[in-house]
Amino acid sequence: MRALVTGGAGFIGSNLVQFLLYKGVEVRVLDNLSTGYRINLQHLPIDLVEGDIRDQDLVQQACRNIDIIFHLAASVGNLKSLNNPVEDAQVNILGMVNLVEAARKNQVCNIIYSSSAAIFGELLTMPIDENHPQNPNSPYGVSKLAAEKYLLCFAKLHGITASCLRYFNVYGLNQRYDAYGNVIPIFAQRLITGAPLTIYGDGAQTRDFVHVKDVAMANYLAATIPHTSGVYNIGSGTSITINELAHFIQESCGITASAVEYAPPRPGEVRHCRAGIGKARSILGFNPDTNIQDGLNSYMRWFKTSMQIAA
Ligand SMILES: NC(=O)c1ccc[n+]([C@@H]2O[C@H](COP(=O)([O-])OP(=O)(O)OC[C@H]3O[C@@H](n4cnc5c(N)ncnc54)[C@H](O)[C@@H]3O)[C@@H](O)[C@H]2O)c1
Repeated sequence: MRALVTGGAGFIGSNLVQFLLYKGVEVRVLDNLSTGYRINLQHLPIDLVEGDIRDQDLVQQACRNIDIIFHLAASVGNLKSLNNPVEDAQVNILGMVNLVEAARKNQVCNIIYSSSAAIFGELLTMPIDENHPQNPNSPYGVSKLAAEKYLLCFAKLHGITASCLRYFNVYGLNQRYDAYGNVIPIFAQRLITGAPLTIYGDGAQTRDFVHVKDVAMANYLAATIPHTSGVYNIGSGTSITINELAHFIQESCGITASAVEYAPPRPGEVRHCRAGIGKARSILGFNPDTNIQDGLNSYMRWFKTSMQIAA
């Protein structure tokens, strides 16, 4: 199998690339390295096409002699999209249209898209299954949903199999701290620098954290298990509170005395979140099996080493 992984230098993309190589897949990566890192792909036997998903000619070339596309390249995050909604739409929506056009012209019949739970907006029922109302609260949620719709429409028109995998909170190796980062790298960074962990609200809010290894497996299953086009929620199917997360991550660093400070809740944040993964389980055979404590232990080991390399 010859795969194109867009966004393959990023956090999830680089984990997927490694998993695909391990499975004997030939990999080409298309990435503009805007939030991805060359070091994530260092020493891996891949073909790296450096460039933008919005560049029609380049995307056309990148799709040549490819059997399957994993589309992860995106402008990622709610906050980032509020600050720059135009770029969010250009990369996430027009990037998808570019890609599916290039796929069609190159007879690529299988596309796996990394979508997001951000498409749901306000969460009304728990667990969240694929039919939960979709009323995004951010430009990012809208662009990820629009890209799903474009992909599924093109798939119907041109005989492509399209799988939209809606990730919940993904964490794991190669997830670096940044200004728009997720809670786990932020906690990790603060622990390493001796700063207290800041929790917004009372910490009883829950989230579904899914390990990136399980997400890579979901992509591989979607690529290899025969199925028709569709959308799938990809989470752990369990949730923990932010207080528990703070406790587990401190434990993984051998810290027992709690250094946590509480700040007022952030407006618009959902209270509870847990993925319903029954559809992915029954159709794709998806069975996430990374326990959060084990996942955090290996993450913190990696985080400390990567900080030393960066220093
Ligand atoms: N991290 C999560 O918890 C999470 C949750 C839900 C969905 N997702 C989705 O998973 C995918 C990967 O996210 P991630 O967390 O690994 O983020 P990331 O920022 O690490 O990866 C995105 C990659 O896309 C590349 N990229 C960005 N704009 C590009 C462009 N215009 N052209 C080419 N390449 C471009 C970046 O350089 C980066 O390597 C995204 O589609 C994101 O929407 C992530």
